[in-house]
Amino acid sequence: MFRDTTSCNTYNYGDARYWDARYVQEGGSFDWYQRYSALRPFVRKYVPTTSRLLMVGCGNAVMSEDMVKDGYEDIMNIDISSVAIDMMRKKYGNIPQLKYMQMDVRDMSFFPDESFDGVIDKGTLDSLMCGTDAPISSAQMLGEVSRLLKPGGTYMLISYGDPSARMPHLSRPVYNWKTVLYIIPRPGFEKPEKSCSTTKSYLEPVPTTEKGLLPLDFVLEDPDSHFIYVCKKMDETELSKMPTYPLTNDVI
Ligand SMILES: C[S@@+](CC[C@H](N)C(=O)[O-])C[C@H]1O[C@@H](n2cnc3c(N)ncnc32)[C@H](O)[C@@H]1O
Repeated sequence: MFRDTTSCNTYNYGDARYWDARYVQEGGSFDWYQRYSALRPFVRKYVPTTSRLLMVGCGNAVMSEDMVKDGYEDIMNIDISSVAIDMMRKKYGNIPQLKYMQMDVRDMSFFPDESFDGVIDKGTLDSLMCGTDAPISSAQMLGEVSRLLKPGGTYMLISYGDPSARMPHLSRPVYNWKTVLYIIPRPGFEKPEKSCSTTKSYLEPVPTTEKGLLPLDFVLEDPDSHFIYVCKKMDETELSKMPTYPLTNDVI
């Protein structure tokens, strides 16, 4: 596993103290990358409104509130920043569908195995991947996400990281995840006038190689696009259909 530092700046996004200080300073609310309105088609397609959901690294985003307005019934929000969690509890204490807890995504042992139908992550794995122990932290986090998902459940990761930086982490066989990729432009992106790209819908999954990577000739319309990884934890039936490779002399 390698450390993806390409888009990390000098801030330590993996450090709780950084986030506490930031939330003390900024207050209010802020959604990283995309608002729910842009993500709604993907969330509604893969995550039923009756799901028990975990929002990891909720920060002070409005995403969970918007999801409740859209019919979602049960969202547990966690964040390492106690400042963010206190703010959100004050703001949303009267909304029974939303719960908030201070917690580190690398140790969510508070929750029993297979507690959630869906886990949503907008920018939190990205933050850990900018931290000092990035490879260890991201493996701890993803191991916990996998443990908490029910078979058939979905981990939806919204990230700035392209498949070459994210798939090596997401495709570890121990998670049993089948991943579908979408790519959406950043908010406000306008196609260059002379763009010769086809008008393919962002709502279509992007074809990937066997390793989940973008084909070599794939052209990103917006170089600052966001990537949506929909990782489905395979259930017993799907796992039983997976090809098994007999041991041969060279691997024994
Ligand atoms: C880039 S912000 C995204 C916030 C929010 N999801 C959004 O879309 O606006 C990353 C969030 O992850 C939280 N975070 C960072 N490391 C964490 C950890 N180890 N456990 C839980 N939350 C963490 C930060 O406090 C911050 O709120």
